[in-house]
Amino acid sequence: MKRSANKAVWWVLGIALALLVLIQLVPSPGIKTNPPITAEPTWDSPQTHLLAERACFDCHSNETAWPWYTNVAPVSWLIARDVLGGREALNFSTWGNGETEGGEESAETLFDGTMPLRSYLITHPDARLSASEKQQLAQGLLASLGGKEGYSSSEVSRQNDEDD
Ligand code: HEC
Repeated sequence: MKRSANKAVWWVLGIALALLVLIQLVPSPGIKTNPPITAEPTWDSPQTHLLAERACFDCHSNETAWPWYTNVAPVSWLIARDVLGGREALNFSTWGNGETEGGEESAETLFDGTMPLRSYLITHPDARLSASEKQQLAQGLLASLGGKEGYSSSEVSRQNDEDD
């Protein structure tokens, strides 16, 4: 009885390991690619640029850092999806190429907590922003990317107060 249970465990482990090895052969298109930087927004301050680099650039620029684990499936698939999807929504390295998302949307994502993605913050604690850094970045992004009329920096402060 015990013997065959042990055997079953070894089989399951063996199959899992074989699968893990096999899925490494499935390509993840886009992984490890950093296309050229064609244009950047005109940052209103070096501080805005720095904060955006720290919290947003891995998925919203062509300057993505690709640590070793981004090579390993299935992690590589998930990361490729986030980076390609992020660049499609907003890419600070190809600014002006028909971007649809501006400062307003970016400020909103900071306050509703959707950006940076939670899964990213677990592995990148440096990207966590304090309330005042969020406010700085939101205001900086509004100033650098432009916001819709009627969405002013006072709106940002109001949202930030609610956030605290
Ligand atoms: C781990 C990757 C990742 C990081 C880091 C990240 N984003 Fe995103 N972002 C995405 C993805 C993927 C999408 C598109 C799909 C979606 O909306 O979830 C997106 C979409 C967006 C959009 C489009 C509107 C929306 O909500 O869909 C905005 C604006 C945005 N991000 C702003 C930011 C800002 C500002 C930062 C930094 C504070 C940031 N993102 C950090 C992955 C990321």
